[in-house]
Amino acid sequence: MNELEALRARHSVRRYVDEPLSADKAQLLRAAIDALNAESGLSMQLVVEDPAAFKGSLLSYGMFKGVRNYVALVGPDGPDLDETCGYFGQRLVLFAQMAGLNTCWVGMKNFSRKAKCSIEAGQRLALIIAIGVGETQGRERKSKAIGKVSNATDKSPAWFTRGVEAALLAPTAMNQQRFFLELTDVPAADGRRVVRARSLGGPFSNVDLGIVRYNFEVAASIKNFTWGS
Ligand SMILES: Cc1cc2nc3c(=O)[nH]c(=O)nc-3n(C[C@H](O)[C@H](O)[C@H](O)COP(=O)(O)O)c2cc1C
Repeated sequence: MNELEALRARHSVRRYVDEPLSADKAQLLRAAIDALNAESGLSMQLVVEDPAAFKGSLLSYGMFKGVRNYVALVGPDGPDLDETCGYFGQRLVLFAQMAGLNTCWVGMKNFSRKAKCSIEAGQRLALIIAIGVGETQGRERKSKAIGKVSNATDKSPAWFTRGVEAALLAPTAMNQQRFFLELTDVPAADGRRVVRARSLGGPFSNVDLGIVRYNFEVAASIKNFTWGS
């Protein structure tokens, strides 16, 4: 399975097989997290065998089951933290999918306070990603139309439309999909096209934007475009 296939196969999974994560899967995840932390400056952490974190909160009312492991998304507090967590967290989510694991982003604040991770001075825990072997692979959900989240038309280059389709498969908080992708007429100095991505607001919408950017890049290929502000 490659990243594009993983992106298409991924759905949020909230019910997990109640067994510990195998040592080789944990090791694979830790290596991927180390590489992503080195690239991003984040301090993402894999927490294994902490089922208590998902008990006694709103999360225990039937929504999540068998969650024993999660990735805490921690990094330097600042205006870019949420979007950076979205972008690099989604890279990890796709890696996990390719490794035969399932995931669900979890933004709920009352959970985050209980996460067993280290947060140094100047850092913040943005949110977490539940991770493990799912009871199922999850399922398809409703999505907005391409024209609602982008300026794609019949005349748009195929790579742009492909990118928007992949963005629509991105997980967003409460499936809000409040983002807009715009293919501009401006060519970049190197001949690539400039694409702008913006958030239309809402809870965790900057995390969503980072996730959307990564999904778009995987399908549209960075050789075709560059991000504009
Ligand atoms: C930033 C963010 C926060 C989320 N928080 C929660 C949460 O607290 N509880 C939950 O059950 N799902 C949560 N989700 C999962 C979304 O509900 C899910 O991604 C969305 O409904 C789309 O479904 P899909 O992931 O299967 O494509 C969150 C997703 C994102 C991106």
